[in-house]
Amino acid sequence: MAEGTDFGGAVPQHIGIIMDGNGRWAKKRGLPRTAGHTAGAQNFRTITRYAASIGMKYLTLYAFSTENWSRPAAEVSALMRLFRQYMEEALTDFMDENIRVRFIGDTSAFAPKLRELIAEVEESSAPKTGMVLNLAMNYGGRAELTRAMRQIGEKIRRGEMRPEDVTEDVISAHLYTAGQPDPDLVIRPSGEERISNFLLWQSAYTEFVYFDILWPDFKSSDLDEAIRIFNHRNRRYGGV
Ligand code: FPP
Repeated sequence: MAEGTDFGGAVPQHIGIIMDGNGRWAKKRGLPRTAGHTAGAQNFRTITRYAASIGMKYLTLYAFSTENWSRPAAEVSALMRLFRQYMEEALTDFMDENIRVRFIGDTSAFAPKLRELIAEVEESSAPKTGMVLNLAMNYGGRAELTRAMRQIGEKIRRGEMRPEDVTEDVISAHLYTAGQPDPDLVIRPSGEERISNFLLWQSAYTEFVYFDILWPDFKSSDLDEAIRIFNHRNRRYGGV
């Protein structure tokens, strides 16, 4: 941990990051988009370790959305290769740092080898007691809510629940993030100011911080800065 870092208050429990701007980072350097993803993946490793070192409890990173399948086939395969590589390497060293890795999203759509790695990583890191890293892969907030509604509908159909039993807590308990606190802060680097289907239900009262920095250039000090901005906001949760 960066000794003496001034966060302007406590480190939030749960931060989400939309890792955006890999393609533009590569383009600026005259490189193929895939080179941007490689640089982005390295940064994913750096920032995750840093987040754990400053005492964050949950970090949710948007790695692949339900819409990303529509990218050119070569780019999608390059991303899948990176995911496999990182499941094997980086995620194993997260384990030395007591990080628990969970996957949020419909991972059944991935190729068998990647699915196997995902299951292994989840299982072997399950006993870890440090930061929880949620990797959003083939994730979409609307797809997540649709899945929850179907599960709840099934329970009602089977007579295990009545429509009037469906509360906000019940819906939260059917999301991939069941049992976790909602994100306090979502950060989007790259200059875009959109939510892009990320944690739609969970971010009802989340603070957003946007940065004009492309994800591969996003540094630990930028995370510190986002936390300071967060700590200067006045969260009212609909009150006054
Ligand atoms: C958005 O940048 C980024 C992605 C769609 C992929 C995010 C993936 C990584 C950071 C790689 C690795 C992650 C793991 C878990 C190993 P973009 O391509 O949309 O950039 P652009 O908006 O500049 O085109």
